[in-house]
Amino acid sequence: MVKLTGLKKIKTAVFISGTGSNLKNLIKFSKIKNSPLSIDLIFSNTSKAKGLRFSSQFKIKECVSSFKNPKVAEAKILNILKKENIKFICLAGFMKVLSKDFIKKFSGRIINIHPSLLPKYKGLNTHMKAIKNRDKMAGCTVHFVTAKLDSGKIILRKEVKISKRDTPTSLAKKVLKEEHKLYPKAILKIFS
Ligand code: GRF
Repeated sequence: MVKLTGLKKIKTAVFISGTGSNLKNLIKFSKIKNSPLSIDLIFSNTSKAKGLRFSSQFKIKECVSSFKNPKVAEAKILNILKKENIKFICLAGFMKVLSKDFIKKFSGRIINIHPSLLPKYKGLNTHMKAIKNRDKMAGCTVHFVTAKLDSGKIILRKEVKISKRDTPTSLAKKVLKEEHKLYPKAILKIFS
């Protein structure tokens, strides 16, 4: 478990690949007094990620590196993480799988938000799977990242009711709203 030492906020990087609504939410959370984290770096594997606009909006350093060659990309990230003295990583809609070696270097210090009630529906298309299986509940999970995809220790989960009229899109919207509440709560839980 990571403990907050002194009054300084823990320097954190957020990894994204897309819209970045969770990123924006984490940035806002980081600015409140009792947030244990400050967001000091945004990493994206694509320059097309809409969420990158938040780096200029909130004056946060950004780094982009495609994962065409994952080894090269990870070396570049590790370099900047070291340079910026980043101690914690939040994955937020990051669509690439980090290597064992990378995760080992940040062991216990990388967390992720996943749009399902883990351990159910690891990987992609979680909402479609929940609807197809006629589940009554969907939801989201914040968990520690380990080398095994979406399988690290669960920090917090939140259930969301699936209605008969839900489509994967409408369900994703409902779950995302809960993700925005769950991610900060999970961070507070880790550092309390
Ligand atoms: C979220 O549903 C997250 O759980 C999943 O990808 C989506 C990212 O949304 N991994 P955003 O980019 O944070 O808006």
